[in-house]
Amino acid sequence: MYNNDIMKRKKIIIGNWKMNLSLPLAQDLILKLKSESEKKWDVDIAVCPPYIYLAQVLNILKGSKITVGAQNMYYKEEGAFTGEISPLMLKDIGIQMVIIGHSERRQIFKETDSEINLKVKAALQHDFTPVLCIGEDLGTREKGKAEEYVTQQVTNGIKDISKNDIEKIIFAYEPIWAIGTGKICSGEDAVKVNKAIRNILKEKYSTEISNKIRILYGGSIKSANFGEHISNEDIDGGLVGGASLKAEEFAKIIDLADKAMVTI
Ligand code: 13P
Repeated sequence: MYNNDIMKRKKIIIGNWKMNLSLPLAQDLILKLKSESEKKWDVDIAVCPPYIYLAQVLNILKGSKITVGAQNMYYKEEGAFTGEISPLMLKDIGIQMVIIGHSERRQIFKETDSEINLKVKAALQHDFTPVLCIGEDLGTREKGKAEEYVTQQVTNGIKDISKNDIEKIIFAYEPIWAIGTGKICSGEDAVKVNKAIRNILKEKYSTEISNKIRILYGGSIKSANFGEHISNEDIDGGLVGGASLKAEEFAKIIDLADKAMVTI
């Protein structure tokens, strides 16, 4: 049964486009999504295009209920950091959300927990909603250490974050072995990790605070495999990669989240 605190957690579906699409394809996708979003969806929706398309996407989505987020951000405000984008720049164009610590950033671009912690703090300081990603690799899962590993990543990522700020973070559990592989983590296993994340938040802050925080799942989500996950009270939404690149499929995933809200 859902209790009152959990009922207040609105589901959210976030599309992470990664380094995909051309400008015409991005525009086409977003126009379709915008018109779909005019139907009565009682869930939060966000898209995170590559930096270079953010301004155009924001422009098209002006006045719609879809939030636009960035896929990354540097923690410094300005300076000699070739190739980086600062919080002030994202603020300037009207961005409200930023993905931080995606496993591709951690693995390919070698971002560390302490850098990610600095980024989360910078995002909060500039009033963004940080979407903090955490997740274990296959070896860690096979050793039965997924919960322990993810709990440690969360602990490092939220170091020195106040009670006031912690509620503004959205957590996204994305097991690395499930990203882009077509192998979704079962609802049961995802729930176990999400519960472990909520427990650590409960320990560090309070039950009341932890119950307000949204914890998502991500990794090979499709409309055909996400129903079990999204209808669970411990999965507050999805961070969707490949399936967010097709308007119809992404809309079907949002539909699932919407139905899950209605059945609460
Ligand atoms: P896929 O949905 O393509 O597996 O990607 C998940 C992801 O990394 C979202 O951030």
